[in-house]
Parts: sequence; C-alpha cells; structure tokens
Amino acid sequence: MPDTPPRLLAFAGSLRQGSYNRRLVHVLAEGARAAGAQVTLIELRDYPLPIYDGDIEAAGVPVTVRELQALMAEHDGLLISTPEYNGSMPALVKNTLDWISRPIESGRSGVSLFQDKIAGIVSASPGPLGGLRSLLVLRDALSKLGLLVVPQQVAVGQAADKLPDYGVLTDDRLRSGVHNVGAAVVRHLGVLSNGASSNTRTGAAA
Ligand SMILES: Cc1cc2nc3c(=O)[nH]c(=O)nc-3n(C[C@H](O)[C@H](O)[C@H](O)COP(=O)(O)O)c2cc1C
Repeated sequence: MPDTPPRLLAFAGSLRQGSYNRRLVHVLAEGARAAGAQVTLIELRDYPLPIYDGDIEAAGVPVTVRELQALMAEHDGLLISTPEYNGSMPALVKNTLDWISRPIESGRSGVSLFQDKIAGIVSASPGPLGGLRSLLVLRDALSKLGLLVVPQQVAVGQAADKLPDYGVLTDDRLRSGVHNVGAAVVRHLGVLSNGASSNTRTGAAA
C-alpha cells in the first residue's frame, strides 16, 4: 500500500433531496474508508453546470467546471452511485464527465485527469433491476475516459425499502457487496502504486 492513503472523489448522479443514490453513495464511501481511503463526498447540486455547449465554453468555462477539474486532479479515483434513466445513465452524470474532460487551464486535455485512475460504481432504483443497465453504460463511458473500473458492482433494486436514509442499506448481503466495491477500488490503487514503485526500482518503462 502507498504511504499516503488513496484519495477518492465520490458523488451520486442525482440532485433530488430524497435520492436513493445519494443515500447509497454514503455506503460506498464507508466501504472505501474502511479499506483505508480518504474519501471526498461531494453533492453535484453544489456544482451546477449547464448542458455542455461549445459556445458557453468559448465564452468562458464555468467556474464549477474548473472546481470539478481541480477535484479530479487531486484524487486517485472515483466512486459513483448512479440512477438509471430509460436504460442508461442520467444526463447529469454524462454532462459532468463531459465538462471535466474538456481542456484544463494549462491547455492539457481534461481526459488526462481520469487516466490510469480507478473507479467503483453502484446504482439504486425503486425497480427490480436496481439500475443495472445504467452501470453497463457508465462502465463503458468511464473506461473510454481511461479509468479502470473494478469488476465488482452492485445494483440495489426496491430501493425505497432498502435505502431508508443516508448511508443506511438494510440488506446485509447488498451492504457488504457495496462495501466490497469501495474496498476493491482501494486494493487496485495499492496494486498500481506498488507496480509503479517496482517499475521505478527495476528501471522499467512507465
Ligand atoms: C426520466 C426517467 C427515466 C427513468 N427510467 C428508469 C429506468 O430505465 N430504469 C429504472 O429502474 N428506473 C427508472 N426511472 C426511475 C428512477 O430509478 C427513480 O426515479 C430513482 O428514484 C432515481 O434515482 P434517485 O432516487 O437517486 O434520484 C426513471 C426516472 C426518470 C425520471
């Protein structure tokens, strides 16, 4: 494991007050913290963004984009709990990722902020599948950005019964599964970090 704890940025892909995913992301963060990570849990409602528009970008990148890019630069990975909208991820999640991927102030591509970082993803829905299809789409989008998404994932169905409050997931098996997603992210970061230091020792190319 690295000397300093890995830093993970966590958010839910929903803005609404009673969101099941906002409740679930606390459980995911708890799992990562128990495995040794330092987790920064943000609310996307604190970083309001317009729908991506090249004209808005040309006129001046919103300050919230710069704040999110700075957060991404400071962290080693992402923890996301996403709703499912019509079988896909919500526009909120995609729009947030799209804005972060735009060039940073130095002119470097914002995609570089995601490269070789690790992500853990979960979902919640009042429906029986728990938003499983949104995880497939989100996994694909994150991989395209250069993140390694851990294979463990959990979709919490019947969320109205199972997620009564922030950080409370009443089903023991699901809770342990969500904790395990957070722990897997931390484990993978440890492996990457050890790999990097052993490459440095042997002089292998980065
Ligand atoms: C536009 C829209 C489309 C939706 N499509 C789906 C869907 O495909 N699958 C599903 O399980 N739930 C779907 N839902 C229901 C959401 O799962 C539900 O609103 C959920 O509470 C959203 O997550 P949140 O509680 O974190 O806000 C949809 C909701 C909306 C508003």
